[in-house]
Amino acid sequence: MTDTDASTSTNTDARSGIEWSEQLSIGIDSIDRQHKTLISYINELNNAINKDLTANGKKDLVTIVINKLVNYTRIHFVYEEAIIFGFSSYPEAADHKEKHEKLFKGVDVFKERIQSVDINDIEYFEELCTELMMYMNEWLTNHILIEDMQYAIYIKENGIKVK
Ligand SMILES: [Fe+2]
Repeated sequence: MTDTDASTSTNTDARSGIEWSEQLSIGIDSIDRQHKTLISYINELNNAINKDLTANGKKDLVTIVINKLVNYTRIHFVYEEAIIFGFSSYPEAADHKEKHEKLFKGVDVFKERIQSVDINDIEYFEELCTELMMYMNEWLTNHILIEDMQYAIYIKENGIKVK
């Protein structure tokens, strides 16, 4: 029973969006600001999914927010890749870029599934959109804590200045 309770509570957390905490700070102001913006868009998506709207109204709103989230993620990755490839010899740069590209492959699969849903099946539409939100939520949290922290440490250790 305890195990079931624990897994339910993890799902509930991911479903309720994501909260910024100092634990997610990588110590580079511009990147932290962008991560905060990404988190706010993930939460905006969560709010849009749970809004009391007609099926078509919800589809329109959710589509706008997903596009905003995905477009901003692209902008953020371009910015971040410019930084990490800008160091003369950061050994993880190519791997890091590959992780970014993998996220979009996952997002594309979700977007295709979401677009092909019969909007009259609003519960399934909401379920798929929630899965996308949770995927972005969990991916971003893990990515910040592992790969982004890694280049932040490299920057610190090598005395590189990034605003
Ligand atoms: Fe990254």
